[in-house]
Amino acid sequence: MARSFLRYPGENAILTEYIIFNVIVNYKLTGIYKNENFFVDNSCIHGVSERCPANVLVGPRKIRSREEDVVGVYTPLCDLLQIECPVVLAGMGMGISGADLAAAVSNAGGLGLLGCSRLTPDQIRELIRKTRQLTDKPFGVDILAPPLSGSPGQKEGLKRQIPRKYWDFVEKIKRDFNIPDFDHPDYALTEEFLRQQMEVVVSEKVPVFATGLGTPGWVREEIRAHGIKYISLVGKVKHAVRLKENSPDVIVAQGTEAGGHTGKIGGLALIPMVVDAVSPVPVLAAGAICDGRGLAAALALGAVGIWMGTAFLATHEAFHDAINLGWMTPGDRDFYQDTILKAAEDDAVVTRVKTGKTCRVYRSGLLKLWEESGLEPLPYQLQTIIMTHLETGLMKADKCDYVLHPGGQGAGMIHKLKSAGDLVRDIVHEAAQIIRDKLPVYI
Ligand SMILES: Cc1cc2nc3c(=O)[nH]c(=O)nc-3n(C[C@H](O)[C@H](O)[C@H](O)COP(=O)(O)O)c2cc1C
Repeated sequence: MARSFLRYPGENAILTEYIIFNVIVNYKLTGIYKNENFFVDNSCIHGVSERCPANVLVGPRKIRSREEDVVGVYTPLCDLLQIECPVVLAGMGMGISGADLAAAVSNAGGLGLLGCSRLTPDQIRELIRKTRQLTDKPFGVDILAPPLSGSPGQKEGLKRQIPRKYWDFVEKIKRDFNIPDFDHPDYALTEEFLRQQMEVVVSEKVPVFATGLGTPGWVREEIRAHGIKYISLVGKVKHAVRLKENSPDVIVAQGTEAGGHTGKIGGLALIPMVVDAVSPVPVLAAGAICDGRGLAAALALGAVGIWMGTAFLATHEAFHDAINLGWMTPGDRDFYQDTILKAAEDDAVVTRVKTGKTCRVYRSGLLKLWEESGLEPLPYQLQTIIMTHLETGLMKADKCDYVLHPGGQGAGMIHKLKSAGDLVRDIVHEAAQIIRDKLPVYI
């Protein structure tokens, strides 16, 4: 019966559209429309175009016709964060998601997050102010905030905890690749450093703060005390339940498919379980979401939006500040983006070699050398020191194919670079078309 109403709409069409959009999908497709004629196109299903006029009332709104350009997707996340579509740019540290990228996403109606992990307080302030010059829309800051020890003054102390054989490995690589000694940015991840970073987030009155790898209590208190919205990531249901006790505004449920630090559970299993476990806290879906199909699927799983990293790496605005701040070179950016465009679904592997914690990266020469060395990765702070040293040197020696670039399984569906604004708009448009035109014919 439902199929026939879609082909020959009448009163049933009105009722069923109402159910689809308000009961099953439960989100609003918004848009401006000019007339009362609306169409359902079944061509993708039946191989022929069967366009049927229908006056469709969706709750208080009407769906605009396919001929009338783009529709939007609006969920409770949009009200919560004061944004126009439920697409969030994941924080990607060292300025990989910097001011240009965050502002472009916010200007397109999503939420841009500045990836400020490892940046000094002054650099974070500069990025925040630069973003404010580029957009008047909401944006946020993301900083990795795992439990840490030590102070910046103890950087040398941390280095001394690294056993000799690891430094021998570093020296061998430097010799083999003719890498001279070099200066590199401050990479000491200590609690005192994190406190200084947080001081900037608070004093600059950033509207949203996001973090992964757990959040120390004092960070949450700072955020709460200053009325900043708090987003945190989980990769397991039990972590989500624990996180809920900390009253986050939004929880990101991230499947193992994701780029960067990631867990073991696939998104299709994890996301609905987290949605159920933390209700009514809104959940964002993450991990290999790269297009409108991912957004539509995320909404179907009960999420209120998406959190995307890898897809935004393949945009013109990505990496600008990482390059400006000396963390990357233009050559490395080009190599990285090319890797993403060419990647197959199994090219990104999970390893502790990058940071000491499980992190998904694209296979590289250094990963192979490390595995051949038989060395066990060190704990987080120490492994990060070793790898930052090695990777900075390899980048300077133009050995980009040896660097461990974080990225997700979703890269297999990314085939060209685009602007971040176009990416957001394309995703929203595609998701709306799927929800409005493709899925209803199955009912
Ligand atoms: C290059 C890169 C850098 C990242 N840096 C951070 C970071 O600094 N802090 C953080 O919480 N997550 C970081 N992540 C994880 C992302 O925030 C996000 O959770 C992940 O990219 C989502 O999965 P996707 O890449 O499949 O979209 C990073 C991911 C990538 C790919």
